[in-house]
Amino acid sequence: MSNSNNHVRFEDADEVVIEDAAESSNLDHSMCDPVSDSVPHLSNEQDDDKTSADYYFDSYSHFGIHEEMLKDTVRTKTYQNVIYQNRFLVKDKVVLDVGAGTGILSLFCAKAGAKHVYAVECSHMADMAKEIVEVNGYSDVVTVLKGKIEEIELPVDKVDIIISEWMGYFLLFENMLNSVLYARDKWLVDDGVVLPDKASLYLTAIEDADYKEDKIEFWNNVYGFDMSCIKKQALVEPLVDTVDQKQIATNCQLLKTMDISKMAPGDASFTAPFKLVAERDDYIHALVAYFDVSFTKCHKLMGFSTGPRSRTTHWKQTVLYLEDVLTVCEGEAIVGSMTVAPNKKNPRDVDIMLKYSLNGRRCNASRTQYYKMR
Ligand SMILES: C[S@@+](CC[C@H](N)C(=O)[O-])C[C@H]1O[C@@H](n2cnc3c(N)ncnc32)[C@H](O)[C@@H]1O
Repeated sequence: MSNSNNHVRFEDADEVVIEDAAESSNLDHSMCDPVSDSVPHLSNEQDDDKTSADYYFDSYSHFGIHEEMLKDTVRTKTYQNVIYQNRFLVKDKVVLDVGAGTGILSLFCAKAGAKHVYAVECSHMADMAKEIVEVNGYSDVVTVLKGKIEEIELPVDKVDIIISEWMGYFLLFENMLNSVLYARDKWLVDDGVVLPDKASLYLTAIEDADYKEDKIEFWNNVYGFDMSCIKKQALVEPLVDTVDQKQIATNCQLLKTMDISKMAPGDASFTAPFKLVAERDDYIHALVAYFDVSFTKCHKLMGFSTGPRSRTTHWKQTVLYLEDVLTVCEGEAIVGSMTVAPNKKNPRDVDIMLKYSLNGRRCNASRTQYYKMR
């Protein structure tokens, strides 16, 4: 069992001086130009062939989601620092960027001296990525390939490095990890590097009376009517939101570490035990999950955490409300297990089974709850 004291404290990406930072801000600006104008382009043919249905079914085609990711400086600057401060990883290497989006990670690699970068992107954003690569003068180094990684053909047999930002809410939502593992098994050389190569999921417990009242108990009495059938649905859907670290009432438990360079796709389904020991007398309304990723092949360990004690990222935290309100006294433990697996019908959704029990002085409870990230 480990707890928060075992966490590696990653340096905030902003704390580190970034080489070439001024030039990269220029890059962000040009990237947004073709589509970022808030006034509709009534005569822009490029936009005309995309309907709202396209965007609905393919949210990564819209620049908004990329804007959010790029502006998540914890995320993007960590990747930038990893590449610029560890040029030896990419210099003269063939790189595969799985899910390239705007091409930002490919451009970091190209700028750091990669021999060639294959940027694979399945959404329409691939067209923008091509333009961005061209405008920034990297067409001879970066080749953008539009299509699913599982369906495209690479013009080379092997690559030295695979880079990807595949993490979803609760780490595993969207199940893009499987696409990275697919690419690794098909194209990565034997001693190749995957960036990032470690991802860990953690669990802690919080007091959250006000928000639980607002989001869950609200359905008990809506303008005098009992809508508690919706409350059951609301309990099933984990809430993605930022948690104030003051709400944390127990240790933080490591649930699972994945080694992206070695794991099998099936390893993303697991059952992990936990023991959350109360650090004060309090009420527990929810368990909270979050993840860290790290790049262990750098000169010094680099990475970032999406935990409530770290700077907020667009992943926030994932809150799983409990049916019971648990009353814990300092030193008492909530014990149980969490089972995580992709949904059978829609593998991009994640099914979670939570078993927990508390045998305390003021509270005895034991329950199994099911959640679905969708
Ligand atoms: C989280 S975004 C990251 C984008 C970009 N790498 C960045 O860091 O800003 C993941 C991207 O991967 C793409 N993607 C997801 N699954 C894919 C697949 N199987 N093949 C190709 N692209 C994929 C999505 O369309 C999306 O643009």
